[in-house]
Amino acid sequence: MSAASLSSAPSSKAPSNPTTRTPSTPSEVFDDILSSAQPPPTYSQQTWNPSNPYFPHYHNQNMSSTAITTPPEPLIPPTPALFTTPPILQDTLQTHSSKDQLATAEICMKHLSNPSDPFPILSRREHIAFLESGILGGQNGKLHRGMVALDASRPWIIYWCLQGLASLGVDVGKYRERVISSLRPLQNASGGFGGGNGQESHITSSYAAVLALAVVGRGDENGEEGEALEVVDRRTMFHWLHEIKDWESGGFRVCIGGEEDVRGVYCALVILALLGLPTSGNLVKGTKEYLGRCQTYEGGFGATPNGNEAHGGYAFCTLAGLCILGEPAVVLKKYLDMDRLVSWLSARQYAPEGGLSGRTNKLVDGCYSTWVGGCWALIEAGINGPQDGNEETLGEKKVVGSLWSREGLARYIMNCCQSPKGGLRDKPGKGADYYHSNYILLGLASTQNYFYYTSSPIPLSSPPPSSPSNPESGDIPIPLAAPFLWHYSPRIPSNTPNVAEAIVKDMPAWPDDVTEEDLLPGQEVESDRLKVHHPIFNIPFERAGEIEAWWKGKMGF
Ligand code: FPP
Ligand code: ZN
Repeated sequence: MSAASLSSAPSSKAPSNPTTRTPSTPSEVFDDILSSAQPPPTYSQQTWNPSNPYFPHYHNQNMSSTAITTPPEPLIPPTPALFTTPPILQDTLQTHSSKDQLATAEICMKHLSNPSDPFPILSRREHIAFLESGILGGQNGKLHRGMVALDASRPWIIYWCLQGLASLGVDVGKYRERVISSLRPLQNASGGFGGGNGQESHITSSYAAVLALAVVGRGDENGEEGEALEVVDRRTMFHWLHEIKDWESGGFRVCIGGEEDVRGVYCALVILALLGLPTSGNLVKGTKEYLGRCQTYEGGFGATPNGNEAHGGYAFCTLAGLCILGEPAVVLKKYLDMDRLVSWLSARQYAPEGGLSGRTNKLVDGCYSTWVGGCWALIEAGINGPQDGNEETLGEKKVVGSLWSREGLARYIMNCCQSPKGGLRDKPGKGADYYHSNYILLGLASTQNYFYYTSSPIPLSSPPPSSPSNPESGDIPIPLAAPFLWHYSPRIPSNTPNVAEAIVKDMPAWPDDVTEEDLLPGQEVESDRLKVHHPIFNIPFERAGEIEAWWKGKMGF
């Protein structure tokens, strides 16, 4: 095994001087880690450090101007040894994979152990400029010529850039008309969206188009411009989804006559849920079973049932798909082997990198911050069961806390994935792109929030009064209610003392609660906190509720 899982490692404080002493044996490394556990600092213990991104210097409720005259000690401790020392276990058989793995660990360690900046801030302005170039074009108003290769992925480019900007706190409503006029021509009269003008409908371009419209929303905060999702012809979309459903397997093809895999299922379910389309008529019959059959001997998920290699991309599609079809604590436990799943998913997080990989024996990559990192919220909700939705009593009920290292992922993202020119990247040495920027930002937001599920007031699996009363018939009543029952809290229940988690947890929101008056002269708004997203749809969290209200207000199609 060329990498060690972070999840089983105890939490740690840095050794006294991690930059000058490199432990030489595995047991020395382990001793360092074990001997150093220390409770996280609370706000009252923190000292003032204007250059410290984690000090809430713009949160001035209790701060008088005299408080800032005392020179402080830096709050951010040096990087813990776990992220600065080579893995304890290393493959003795040298292969291309093992060499790539060691080289990646080496370069990540360099980025992670910068003594002058152990935990860099988010370069918000640079990332915003980079993502805006995907919506507005560069200086000539055009996308870079390399983007020609993505001509069949136009809705994707729009979605990645819009959602990335939304995560960074940009009001993307200003792009509403631009987005609508780009996406409308991609819709086919027979239902669904193509990836480019004149192209056949495909489930992933339809999904990306629906998401982009969902993100851009209602234009202004009063919603006077109307819901952008009105662009979608819900009736033809509904018919097209019937055409790509595989009535035998329970899955969905990606286009008429195309291949069938869990991407097709997840994208179809997101479209059904966000458009409030009816699922009676057995449109989702056999789908939960199809998803369950994609779990492999490793515990992860292949693209199709029975025997493909487990991959993080398919894991997110499977888990999120099941969570659209029912309550996590019911559907995940019923259709999946949860122990194997937790084991495989834990093994996706590597030390010293802190980042996540997509599959066994492959390298960490920032985009798995969403495909793999996003799975944890769904699994934790499945294990914890429904919560009562009361922010005050959160965590009083026994919950598992973090099953993954939010700290490790946040460190990987901040140190290794930020391109100096703006935008986010797979790993050091790679260039930034819109896809990675969006999925890395979503992953970073997942490290900052605890997502939980609340019970439905009505049973989710009971059929409508006129249907046969067999809840297992697959005839789930209109609408798909489960994905609209999620909540989030910036308070992360944790049973491990963990410095960076405490920091992440205590970071004030940006920019809602920051005003110019909060800032000291010459100070800029600096915070790494992102706008929260919906854990299943990957759109701004509050949009899910607004969209549900929109389709609930409709009579039929
Ligand atoms: C391997 O890439 C990638 C895959 C086998 C599939 C990835 C699938 C997704 C990201 C999910 C897509 C989701 C939707 C909603 C369409 P690689 O070999 O370049 O990367 P690796 O070495 O990290 O495995
Ligand atoms: Zn990637």
